[in-house]
This record gives sequence, C-alpha cells and structure tokens, in this order.
Amino acid sequence: MQLSEETTKSLAENQQEHLVQFWDELDEQEQSRLQKQIAEIDFALLKKLITKRDQAATEESGADKAKKATSPEQLVRLPQDEDQIEERKKAAQVGNALLASGKVGAILVAGGQGSRLGFDNPKGMYPIGPVSQRTLFEILAEQVLARSQRAGVVIPYFIMTSEATHSSTEKFFEEHEYFGLGQENIFFFQQSSLPAIDDSSHQILLAEKGKVATSPDGHGGMLNALNKHGMLDVMRERGIEHLFYHQVDNPTAIVCDPVLLGLHQQYGSDLTTKVVAKATPEEKMGVLVSINAKTEIIEYSDLPGEEAHRKDEHGQYVFWAGNTAIHVFRREFMESLLEDELSLPFHIAHKKIPHVDSAGISIDPDQPNGNKFEQFIFDALLHAKVALVVEGDRQREFNPVKNASGSDSPETSKAALARIAKEWVTTAGGEVPKNIKVEISPLLALDENDMKEILPDGTVFQKDAVLKN
Ligand code: UTP
Repeated sequence: MQLSEETTKSLAENQQEHLVQFWDELDEQEQSRLQKQIAEIDFALLKKLITKRDQAATEESGADKAKKATSPEQLVRLPQDEDQIEERKKAAQVGNALLASGKVGAILVAGGQGSRLGFDNPKGMYPIGPVSQRTLFEILAEQVLARSQRAGVVIPYFIMTSEATHSSTEKFFEEHEYFGLGQENIFFFQQSSLPAIDDSSHQILLAEKGKVATSPDGHGGMLNALNKHGMLDVMRERGIEHLFYHQVDNPTAIVCDPVLLGLHQQYGSDLTTKVVAKATPEEKMGVLVSINAKTEIIEYSDLPGEEAHRKDEHGQYVFWAGNTAIHVFRREFMESLLEDELSLPFHIAHKKIPHVDSAGISIDPDQPNGNKFEQFIFDALLHAKVALVVEGDRQREFNPVKNASGSDSPETSKAALARIAKEWVTTAGGEVPKNIKVEISPLLALDENDMKEILPDGTVFQKDAVLKN
C-alpha cells in the first residue's frame, strides 16, 4: 500500500521520516499498523517533552526540594490511645455511610508493563493466593464486591489498562464472569502510549521495522484517559463523587477502606493518601512531605543519602511517610486538573530500549539508550486545596508484588496474605499451626471482626485451607 500524504507530511514536518525507512519491506498489515501508530502520535506534545528533556538541568533538583521539606502537616497518624481509636471508629462509620450513599467508585490502575516481575501476562493475572493461587485481579475484585454487598449499593469498578494489557485483561474478566461484579459495573478504559525517543537526538525509536517503540504514559495518564473515554461522564451519571484509587500489585490494600474514606470526607479533602512508615531511612520508597505548606511526594531517587537520615526537632525522621499509592480522589478535583494539559508534569526516564537501528539491525542495549515519558498520579497533590495524609499499618496493608524475587516479590506477598489470615483466625480464637497455611476470601471476611463472627470456637486447622462462602 501507499503511504498516505498526511503521514508523509506530518513525518516531514516533525523530522521523523526514518520511521518509514523500511516501508517497502513490510507487508500490507504491517504497513497499515505502522501508519495507524504514526497517526496516533501527538507530535506537538512530543516536541514539548523533548524541549523539556533538553532543558532538564534548569529545574530545581530533588536535593534542593528535600532541604526545604518537613514531615507532612495535614496528617492522621496510627492511633496511639483510646481517644484516637475512637476517632478511627467514627471515621469508619462516616466512610461506611459514604459507601452506602452510592457516591464512591473504585479505580484500579493496571496498565503498567510489570517489567521487574517479568510475567508474560498483565500483572493482575499473577496467581498470588497462597493456597488457592487466586489472582491479584480476583482478590481485588472480590474486595470491591464484598464492600458493595455490605453497603447495599453497587460500587462501580473503573479499570485502567494500556495497549499492552487491554485485551487480555478484558478477556480474563469475561472468562471469570466479572468476579460477580456484573459486566455493567466494570468499566475498562485504555490509557495512552507515548513513543520512546533516542537519548542523544530527537528521533523516535522503532521497536521493529514496522513498529514504533512505545510505552504507557504512566499512572498519571489516568486523568486524560478517564476524560477521553467518557468515564467522568459515567461517574457523573452514576452520582459518583469520590474515587478510591489503588494499584494492581498490592493484594493487601484495604479496597474502599471505610476509615480512609471517612477521614477524607471529615477533612473535606481533595486528595487523601495512605502512607506507611518506611522500614529504614534508605528504603526505596517515595515519601510524603510538606514543602511551603503544600503536600508533595519526593521520589527516592531524588532523596540524597544525608537528607534521608534528617530528623526533626522531636527526633523523628522527616522522610518517614512512605507512599503506598492508595488514594481517595474527589471527582471534582480530578475534573479541575483536566483544565490544563500539563497540570501533571511528564517525568523523563532514561531506560534500555530495544530497537532496530538505521541499518535495520535489532539492538538489545546493555546501557540506557533512550527516554520514556510518564505522568505520575501523585503529582496531583500539588494542586489539591486540601491534601490529607493518613498513616496505615504497613504489615497489614502494604505487601506489593514488584520484583521477581527478594523484597516486594510474589514470595513476600503470598507470605503476607497467609500471615494476615493466621492473625485473623488467632484473634477469632482459632489456631493455624506452624507449616499450615490458611487463605481467606474477601467475600467471607474483610477483617478480623468478620472472622470472629463466623469462625466456630476452638477451630484448629489440620491442613491448608481456603475459607470462602
Ligand atoms: P509501577 O510503577 O510499579 O510499574 O506501577 P509497573 O509497570 O507495574 O512495573 P515495572 O516498573 O515495569 O516493573 C504501579 C502501578 O501503576 C500502574 C501499574 O499497573 C501498577 O498498578 N501503571 C503504571 C499504570 O497503570 N500505567 C502506567 O503507565 C504505569
């Protein structure tokens, strides 16, 4: 087929003609796919990003920001005394009432490439149940269903995918009958992708002779994607005012946590974030801080070693509040962010990007050779009039699957699910002997209090078990 005039013109205008240098070697299908990919490139945005990359040195460094930072100001720490325990109980009541009012939706970001885990399917399809091998998707979706059933209303589930994960995610949910949530209550929407750029020029990289190298535009791409696919309209139609945001990699996140929702409501917050104490000052975790009375996140890569150890006048580490990527967004706040295309900045990552060179040879670089561009959802914090930070229990709530082995891996996450189940059984008066694993379906129990109501007195597990209804 012939390259369209429009494509030829736009490639020439943007000095990216090399993208079609192998055109004659491609079959019709490949040609058509390449032409479609090129048509989808937002060259104007790309130009701005490349300019930003070339000027990066003029930006304030993370180290300078860190010097001005204090521990978050608008903060609710874990309860230390009876009064604070009572306050959390009240917050939970407020949160449960908010859920029952039908004004809460849940949003799952599942568009990442999961490169560290190195799993062939979308990360949500990873079998994480320590006994049943149930997947991350199943555990999270069952939590949404359990909360819906208790609240007596539908909690719509918005699931962000990307080019890499969209079709397999949709198919997986369909095959599992939407985990009981009802197809009409699940909204899949695909985030955009951006081309990768050669790091020493302005050229877009080709992944193959007929394929542009692209990657999803970061979890912050959620805002534009929600807008582009009409999801904000769906929320308005359904009366959704707040969105419980979580990531696909943490099966122990308390999805639609009534405490977090309640505090968010009580403080009139635009954006509420759950944090947990970092394990060590050097731990590689973004931290919530206040800078000039604004809540922000400093990424671990931007926190110099000596700053990481800084303590405040009470002898507390300043950079203790690790980001769990669990948030509650006010819908109207999200809408306000869309008024400016660049309200969330693009971050420039320097990565190893496999590509074909100008001679058509496939290169798998051993050094970073290109740039990817991503928006981060937590940059929304800077725009919030009220940003609330709430401390959660790390052991209970933050056990993500990031790496193939070692820390934050399937092994640690599975162990955490088994440990939490054992704690609930023990609190409920039962016993899980050493070397026995128990797994609890969210549909049966969402916490230890549920367990107390259902576990027969004196239950001792003799073999591995999955507790479900
Ligand atoms: P991570 O930052 O851990 O990235 O994503 P990842 O893609 O899962 O894994 P690596 O870095 O390649 O190993 C945190 C969460 O944000 C989602 C992921 O699916 C995960 O739930 N995410 C990330 C998106 O939805 N889109 C993106 O573009 C990036």
